[in-house]
Amino acid sequence: MNPTSEIEIYPPVSTDGAALHRLVAACPPLDPNSIYCNLLQTTHFNETSICAKQQGELVGYISGYLIPDRPDTLFVWQVAVAESARGQGLAGRMLQELLIRPACWNVQALETTITDSNQASRALFRKFADSLNAPLIVSVGFDRHKHFDGAHDSEELWHIGPFTKNKREEI
Ligand SMILES: CC(C)(COP(=O)(O)OP(=O)(O)OC[C@H]1O[C@@H](n2cnc3c(N)ncnc32)[C@H](O)[C@@H]1OP(=O)(O)O)[C@@H](O)C(=O)NCCC(=O)NCCS
Repeated sequence: MNPTSEIEIYPPVSTDGAALHRLVAACPPLDPNSIYCNLLQTTHFNETSICAKQQGELVGYISGYLIPDRPDTLFVWQVAVAESARGQGLAGRMLQELLIRPACWNVQALETTITDSNQASRALFRKFADSLNAPLIVSVGFDRHKHFDGAHDSEELWHIGPFTKNKREEI
């Protein structure tokens, strides 16, 4: 993959479902979901999800949705960047592009969950919070024993926001 070739960023369509299923599977420690789940992301949640393609190959993907009882908050479910495209700011760029979508015009905060050991994810979201000068609050999300029956590391809940209007215009 030529790192300098242009990257196209766009809302997912259903025909991306299988490719993004493969991308997520190739991006540990992400938990793969069923293709059916990915297809729902590309259809019901495509306005709050995003794909990145380079030379026809899917190299980036973020799945997200507006939290049903708090639609001013974007929940970022998974972020995946193919190894060949990492370290070029692609994940950060996809997050920024998501927030300027019409579906996110009223979004005032972002939430995600992160395990203690995922340094890349922690760095990504810390940088995102810093770039917006937005408060970052970390609390217990899903606990290894209470929620995962010991089968998965605990997930911290990261809440970033509120965004100020001016700051969002600066993205
Ligand atoms: C996490 C991931 C999406 C980052 O993608 P990326 O496009 O390389 O990230 P960016 O280039 O936008 O980097 C954003 C910041 O995070 C930092 N970062 C990225 N990967 C890092 C790593 N492995 N260790 C430490 N910091 C890292 C970058 O240095 C950058 O900060 P900087 O500009 O101050 O240097 C990618 O590594 C990935 O897909 N990992 C596997 C799946 C995963 O863990 N997803 C996140 C959980 S939802």
